[in-house]
Amino acid sequence: MSTEKKLFIKTYGCQMNVYDSERISEALIPAGYSVTTDETQADLVLLNTCHIREKAAEKIYSELGRLKQLKLKKPDMKFGVAGCVAQAEGQEIINRQPMVDFVVGSQAYHRLPDMVKSVDNGGKPVEIDFPTEDKFDHITRPKTKRKLPSAFLTVQEGCDKFCAFCVVPYTRGAEVSRPAQKIIDEAKLLVDQGVVEINLLGQNVNAYHGQGIDGEWSLARLIRELAKIEALKRIRFTTSHPNDMDDDLIAAHGDTEKLMPYLHLPVQAGSDKILKAMNRHHTAEEYLNVIERIRATRSDIALSGDFIVGFPGETEADFQQTLDLCEAVRYGQAYSFKYSTRPGTPAAEWDQVEEAEKADRLRRLQTMLTEHQMDFQLSMVGKTLPVLLEKPARDPGQLVGKSEYLHAVHMDAAPELVGTIVQAKVTRTERNSLGAKIVNN
Ligand code: 5AD
Ligand code: SF4
Repeated sequence: MSTEKKLFIKTYGCQMNVYDSERISEALIPAGYSVTTDETQADLVLLNTCHIREKAAEKIYSELGRLKQLKLKKPDMKFGVAGCVAQAEGQEIINRQPMVDFVVGSQAYHRLPDMVKSVDNGGKPVEIDFPTEDKFDHITRPKTKRKLPSAFLTVQEGCDKFCAFCVVPYTRGAEVSRPAQKIIDEAKLLVDQGVVEINLLGQNVNAYHGQGIDGEWSLARLIRELAKIEALKRIRFTTSHPNDMDDDLIAAHGDTEKLMPYLHLPVQAGSDKILKAMNRHHTAEEYLNVIERIRATRSDIALSGDFIVGFPGETEADFQQTLDLCEAVRYGQAYSFKYSTRPGTPAAEWDQVEEAEKADRLRRLQTMLTEHQMDFQLSMVGKTLPVLLEKPARDPGQLVGKSEYLHAVHMDAAPELVGTIVQAKVTRTERNSLGAKIVNN
């Protein structure tokens, strides 16, 4: 079979799309494709799209417009659209941009080899079903060494929570957990490929309830089992819902050494009125209780979150409660967004907060979040931390890695130290990273 063909994938959005893009490239190996990072060299260009916020579909159409120039130079070039915009728009993408050869929704990647064959025969396939089979089942993973010592592993997909602002339950479908043994096998394969850190992914990862050898396993059970893989040194998981933080998962942060002291636990807003309108099913106080319990288990845990400002109905007083909540938690790092209407979600139909108001609230929230982040980073200076070195840094002679708290940490280090955990003394803090020196021990 020919191995001449080149695949260029452009990935938008979350870490799950990064994971999916890797699987997509593996799914297309038997069809003769290998990945290129140069789009002009590509025989097939695939956009793996995200639909979570603002004008996502419009961005994809304008990118396709730009890519048309490539097609003019190389008429045989094929184009595909994957991911959540593909899921949401389906055939409409080909109707609007006939240059597109196929559309594959976020749950149909196992269909890709057949789809590419159909394209070669002049077809224009669109696959946006939610199949019952595992979309990664038919993909043979190559046994080659990986470039990075840290990898994502999807354990759960979709969401049944239906927050009033969110498209995920529509684009990724109902919550589905992968069987535990499949995850353990995949983790072992990753470790054989040189991976020492695994980040377990799911839109609602702590709702994990996959089939294990003795009934359903929780995320905590899965983590404890993965921790038994000797060469695996670090385990993380993202993203969690406050209502699914069960006692065992909280306890695991205290008793499972390989589980990193970092938790991404979005709250979205600090006002109970807004949380109710968002359909979050928890109050600010219940959220703060979870934080308190987890800090009682692991006092140094770094917390991260997501916030939406300007949700329909949010007044200045409601927003103030978001600021109060941030002040109470003091996140190590957090993401914040202006509410953006998503067609098909309930909140899109409600009276909207003015754009200027949203922008002002976002600026004020981000000022506070940045200040807390800086304080947390500053508190690291002078400390000696274990850092997993991941790859060359921008500065020659330096490598960059991750602290247990997920800080990017730069230091002078020999290239062969990639993939090892070194003890490093933090010497300085920058906007989004730390600088350190390896400590001889
Ligand atoms: N508008 C703004 N932010 C959103 N998010 C999800 N949907 C929207 C929306 N419609 C944010 C939430 C979520 C993160 C992944 O994206 O904060 O946790
Ligand atoms: Fe979206 Fe997360 Fe809410 Fe699910 S829990 S609907 S993924 S914001």
